[in-house]
Order: sequence, then C-alpha cells, then structure tokens
Amino acid sequence: MALSNSSLKKLRQIVGKEHCTIEKEELVCYSYDATGKMYLPDAVIFPESSDDISAILKLANKERFFVIPRGAGSGMTGGSLPVQGGIVLVMKRLNRILEIDRDNLIARVQPGVVTGHFHEAVEKESLFYPPDPASSDFSTLGGNLAECAGGPRAVKYGVTRDYVLGLEAVLPTGDIIKTGVKTVKGVVGYDLTRLLVGSEGTLGIITDMTLRLLPLPESVSTITVIFDKMEAAAQTVSEIIRQGIIPRTIEYMDNASIRCTESYLKIGLPVDAGAMLIIEVDGKENETATEIEVLKSLCMHKGARDVKMAETNAERDDLWKARKAISPALYKYAPDKINEDIVVPRSRIPDMVVKIAELRERSGLTMATFGHAGDGNIHFNVMLDKKNRDELQKAEAAVLEVFEYTLELGGTISGEHGIGITKSSYIKKEIGETELFLMKQIKKVFDPNGILNPGKLFPAE
Ligand code: MLT
Ligand code: ZN
Repeated sequence: MALSNSSLKKLRQIVGKEHCTIEKEELVCYSYDATGKMYLPDAVIFPESSDDISAILKLANKERFFVIPRGAGSGMTGGSLPVQGGIVLVMKRLNRILEIDRDNLIARVQPGVVTGHFHEAVEKESLFYPPDPASSDFSTLGGNLAECAGGPRAVKYGVTRDYVLGLEAVLPTGDIIKTGVKTVKGVVGYDLTRLLVGSEGTLGIITDMTLRLLPLPESVSTITVIFDKMEAAAQTVSEIIRQGIIPRTIEYMDNASIRCTESYLKIGLPVDAGAMLIIEVDGKENETATEIEVLKSLCMHKGARDVKMAETNAERDDLWKARKAISPALYKYAPDKINEDIVVPRSRIPDMVVKIAELRERSGLTMATFGHAGDGNIHFNVMLDKKNRDELQKAEAAVLEVFEYTLELGGTISGEHGIGITKSSYIKKEIGETELFLMKQIKKVFDPNGILNPGKLFPAE
C-alpha cells in the first residue's frame, strides 16, 4: 500500500502543495513518538478542516494507502507511528478554541489545541478542565481524546472521557459524523462518543469536540510527604482512600524516580527518601485547610518522616515541574527504558510495590516506579540498554510477571497510555476472545478497507 505519485498529486490538490511534504527532514520529524521508536512515513500532510480530512480519507480508500492521524506525538505506546508506512496526518492546523460557554459550562475546541493552553484559557474565565496528563504543556486535546489520557487529577475528577460530551469525527470512509450532545444528559442511541474516545485513532479522526467544564476550585493546597520506606508510602495511599478522603492528586515517586529527577532538575528533592507522595486537595478555602490537616496527621501516623506544605504558587509549580519531569529524566538516564502503565485496585497498591521490589531484587534489573497512586495507576519502568540481550530478556519476563500479577489483583494492563503497538501482544491476557472478536468487527464496520492507523491495538495475526 505504498503511496503512488498520482495519489501524492491529488493529496496536494486537496490541501495545497505547501501542506503536503515528502522532504526527508520533515518525514523524520513525524516518524517517532515518546516510545523512541521510528517509522518513516511516505508523506506528511497538514489538513485545515474536516472537509480536507474527509477528502483525504476518501482518496485513501479509493487508492488504498494508509493514513495515520497524529497530534503532538507524545504518545507512549506508538499510536501515531506509521508502522506500515502511509501518510501521517498532522492535526496542528486545526488549533482553535471555538467557544467557551460559561452559561452552560462547556467548550467547543479543535483537536490541535495544546491541552495546557486550553487549561489557561478556561482558567482565565474561572472555569476548570480537570484532565491534566503529564505531557499537557505540549500534548494536544485530539491526542488526549484519542488515547483517553489520564493524569494526576483523575483521583477526584476522572479521566478525559468523563469530560467529552460530543464530537465531530471523520470516519475512515470519509463520512463526517456528529456524536453525543451539548447537554449534561443524553441517552439517544449507542454511545459513539465513548467508543471514539480511547480508540487510539483507529476508528475515526476527531475534528471538533464539545467538552464539559467545572467551576475553578477556589483554593488548592499541596503537600509533599517523605517516607523512609516505600511500603509505608504505598500503605498510606490505600489508607487515605479507605478513609474516604479523595484529594485531587496522590502521586507516588520511589527512590529511583526521586534520584533520577533530582539529578535532571537539581531542585532539592529528598534523594535519601524511600518514597515520596505529592498530595493536593482543592475546594473552598476552609475545606482544603481542614483536609490538609487530616491528611498530614494520617501520613505521620502511617510512618511518614516529614510533611512539607507548598507555601506559595511558585513552590507548587516547582513541585509539579519535578513531577512532570520524571518521565524525561528517566529517558535521559535510559533512552531504551520500558515504561508500563498498570492499574490495580487501590487497596492492592502495597502488594504491587512489594512485588516490584521483590522482582527488582530477584532479576538484578534497575527499575523505577512512580505514578498516579491515588488511582492505583503505577508507571513501572525497567531501565535497560536494549542492546544487552540478556537484560532485555529479563526485562520482558519481568513485564509479563507484573502484567499477570496486575490481572490477578483485579487490575488492568493500561490505565492511560493505551495499547498501540507496544502492548498489542498482551491484549489477549486481559480481553476475552469474544470481546476481541467484537472489537475487530467494530473496526471493520468503521474501516472496511483497513486504511486508518493499521497495526495498532490488535495482536498481529
Ligand atoms: C506520567 O505520568 O508522567 C506520564 O504518564 C508519562 C510516563 O508514564 O512516563
Ligand atoms: Zn501518567
């Protein structure tokens, strides 16, 4: 399904010659994502509208070439990689916030808007869009929706799908559809909105989205809690949830993540700690103050060494800068690292961190664990050099063991990064035969010729 010269010519007629390139330098720029894997596309195209995208997909169906939608390329499982060639369709020209409707607490947005810019825009109006993946400074809303991004604030506010009311999307056939509602409620027909969100760009290309907003919380308070023992940190997380306290974030960093991030940023993280939690609460001023006091004493009671309050906005920003830098810091240390995204029931977080520690001891591998512990969502990283075959084999065995244990505990192998290409060989461990068959049938209905984002989600046959 290589791109022919005549198809290229027609693509250029659709978007204009300057918006469709086959220059090697440009192809390279759109050939990789946060997995570090690289696949060169045949061309890169920058449409301006859903009509452009519809025309491109109609042509792809007729002339049979692959189309791979791409946001900012910050995905962690290869969702935007052209693994079987084809054209990468970059959404960056659809980058407008179309409407912020204060009266109805909704916004209409195009997919190329950077998530962090959207946060700023709604916060200026005293409104709040909670989903905040660690990549929010550069990732885009379209990519966030395609992957159903999570992030730290999911503990209290849920994930991206909980904020999507309706969509406009272009199907692989080129048909433009509108799904969902602009209202709080709506139950007419199957929920195509929910089907498209998290479908990893395999069912359609989102071109317009109606998002739900909340009033901006009046006050936010943040503490860091330092533990000598990581088990105590994990038990504290489970205890907070057991007591029915729901902070807006409970982030966990183990010693390896703390040390790696500190050597990357040098901002004074406690490198001798066994683990650290970043707990943030929001609400009315008096409520947050009380909640922080309760949390402080609970943490000390569960064995914390120290609890520090972020006294200023600058201090809080520094903390979040450190948290968001964990992933780049670990990549700098080990560019080939494996990063997993498991979720376990929150009462079982202590079991999982003990399991990972035992695995690290047994395998001799270097591991770093961090993540959204308040959701039970742990990013389990194996720091390895893939050229070392022995290390790679051990790491793959460790990943398998962690996945199997996750499922045994009643968890899931991916909370927010998706399946893409890196986890497709494991999907059958979690999804049953009948359910997988159903998913493949859905893909066929949406994409009869298999031209949209091939090679993702499903294991190779
Ligand atoms: C994060 O929580 O920092 C992101 O999901 C990225 C990562 O897991 O590396
Ligand atoms: Zn994460």
